[in-house]
Amino acid sequence: MSSNILVVGSINMDLITVLARFPKVGETLLGETFTTALGGKGSNQAVAAARLGAQVAMIGAVGDDANGDVALKILQQEGVNCSGIAVKTGMSTGIASITVAEGDNHIIVVSGANFALNPADIAAHEALFAAADVVLCQLEIPMDCVLLAAQLAKQHGATFVLNPAPAQALSAELLALVDVMTPNHTELKQAFTLAEAASDADIAAILPAHMQLVMTAGANGASHYSAAGKRHWPAFKVEVVDTTGAGDTFNAGLAVYWAQGLDVAIQHAQAAAALAVQKLGAQTAMPTAAAVGTFIQQQAQ
Ligand code: RIB
Ligand code: NA
Repeated sequence: MSSNILVVGSINMDLITVLARFPKVGETLLGETFTTALGGKGSNQAVAAARLGAQVAMIGAVGDDANGDVALKILQQEGVNCSGIAVKTGMSTGIASITVAEGDNHIIVVSGANFALNPADIAAHEALFAAADVVLCQLEIPMDCVLLAAQLAKQHGATFVLNPAPAQALSAELLALVDVMTPNHTELKQAFTLAEAASDADIAAILPAHMQLVMTAGANGASHYSAAGKRHWPAFKVEVVDTTGAGDTFNAGLAVYWAQGLDVAIQHAQAAAALAVQKLGAQTAMPTAAAVGTFIQQQAQ
């Protein structure tokens, strides 16, 4: 089986500082390590899907700077079809300033070229939609691009998966086109403008009949909501080093294994994410299909 995935999303250079604890406002601390690595939710999901054995193409934008050159080179090395990536003259490639401490992270994204992506850039690559089984989007590019990607996915019969991160309210027009949404709790509340204490009954009540929801809760596992009701899968128990990119790895796994049914898709997505949190960084930590298979076998023993 080899699924065909199109990712329409962001490309960032991640600037990662590791230190013992997060600084307080106005405080200066000495960090432990500094590394740079390719990131951005779009490029992370593209690379994770490629490592899991899918045929992957990406639509996105970088600037005409050194980070943009590095990003394209890495994506090509990972086997991602980069023909849909625009190079925006005079713009900086997106960056993410990431601080890892206390088993958690803080991330500040400066979008740069990601927000210079426009609907014409998307429309120019309609052939990539025609070839895709699954179109995967996040919210680190302009909303009109996400909407057009959803429309083109629908027109070409692809499953449209939306990872609504970073959290924001979504239009009814976009919600009508989402086949599968993969929020965490915060993202879910913002996407549907739900109250803080939203219960399963509240979620069931707002969920459009056409949509499936796969809600991620980190160490607390993942839940699937649909017109048929709710199901929950506990997470694999592992030592967490860095959760950066774990959500992206989960989304890629879900997309790659989606055609094999919910149980297989969620199990593989969770296994891939469990492997990803055991290493520093986003793409540096993403497993191959073989590693995921081995991990699932080990867990079953
Ligand atoms: O989801 C993790 C990603 O979010 C990082 O790679 C960073 O670039 C931000 O976009
Ligand atoms: Na990681």
